[in-house]
Amino acid sequence: MGTTLPHAATGLPLCFIHHDQPENNMSDQSQESLPQAAPVEEETSTESPELRSILDGLKSLVPQARAAISKANDLKGLDAVRVEYLGKKGHLTEINKRFGKLSTDERPIAGRMLNLHKGEILTLFKKRTDDLEARELEDTLLKETVDVTLPGLRPPLGAHHPVAQVTRQITDIFMNMGFSLRYGPEIETEWLNFDALNVPREHPARDMQDTLYADRGYVLRTHTSPTQVRNMLDMEPPMAVITTGKVYRHDSDATHSPMFHQMEGFAVGEGISFGHLKGVLHEFLEAFYGAGVKVRFRPSFFPFTEPSAEVDVWSDAHGGWIEVLGSGMIHPNVLKNGGIDPEKYTGFAFGLGIDRLTMIKYNVPDLRLLFENDIRFLRQFQ
Ligand code: DAH
Repeated sequence: MGTTLPHAATGLPLCFIHHDQPENNMSDQSQESLPQAAPVEEETSTESPELRSILDGLKSLVPQARAAISKANDLKGLDAVRVEYLGKKGHLTEINKRFGKLSTDERPIAGRMLNLHKGEILTLFKKRTDDLEARELEDTLLKETVDVTLPGLRPPLGAHHPVAQVTRQITDIFMNMGFSLRYGPEIETEWLNFDALNVPREHPARDMQDTLYADRGYVLRTHTSPTQVRNMLDMEPPMAVITTGKVYRHDSDATHSPMFHQMEGFAVGEGISFGHLKGVLHEFLEAFYGAGVKVRFRPSFFPFTEPSAEVDVWSDAHGGWIEVLGSGMIHPNVLKNGGIDPEKYTGFAFGLGIDRLTMIKYNVPDLRLLFENDIRFLRQFQ
């Protein structure tokens, strides 16, 4: 490459070096070289032909580089020019190689001039790089306009679990009727879970087979009914309260899960009758299943209610009655345990399985589907 360098036709004085940007930050070498350029001139009279040729070559290199640099229209093109001039096999290196033929006196002269010209070329590169970078940035900004009228990217939205959806529907209906919503703990005292609810010691529900016992008189609550007594102890009649939450039993198959959800409601006041219970439950079932739903009250037994009734709704899909609720008038012993005078006050109570209601509502064949959290199943409820 170096051999093809054009030589200047006439040997102009060496100090005739053109500085485009004297204020520019040149490399250290070139700045140091500047003041030393003057003595070089004095030696021109005795210079060897080889030195003359090297100095001419160096001198012509700057305008040549300037032309090539300004011709480069992008950073890639500019880099190619950089390699051509400053690379390992570039013009400057080729000139440097010729220093071997110079005398020890002339070598530093050539060295200073090489550094001086190199500094100038580096400055030209720096300036052009800055310009091209600015231009490329401007181009990108112009090209990458934002169309604010385009619709945005919608992040995938989650949804409430079907059991949560049904829980919400049920609580909304009862709260619209004036019930307040209060929660109780999932780890409950054996007394509140059983004794206070008039469930005797020998009752089969208290068997280890059904109940998950914790330490020191605690159980995982087997139903939401203990919240009745908790609230009675906590409030003054009249009161109408619902609760929802998880309950636990030692049970697992297609229709039973060791953890499931219940909803419980009760009202206590003067003159509360079975008629009020029927009215409230009718209202609820019509709101939940739709107007005209067929409802049936069937005599039953629960230790905490007297009389007790189970409530069925008619299902065309199943072609029969489906049991949905347990209910009754609160047993006087339960009122007493809640600190309420059964001579003065009466009350009704009811409880239902939320998962069961969800299965009926959405025709879910297996209870376990509700708790496996298979995203394909859950997506259907979005
Ligand atoms: N606690 C009962 C159960 O888990 C459901 C129940 C029945 C709750 C009758 C009540 C009620 O409040 O009056 O099966």
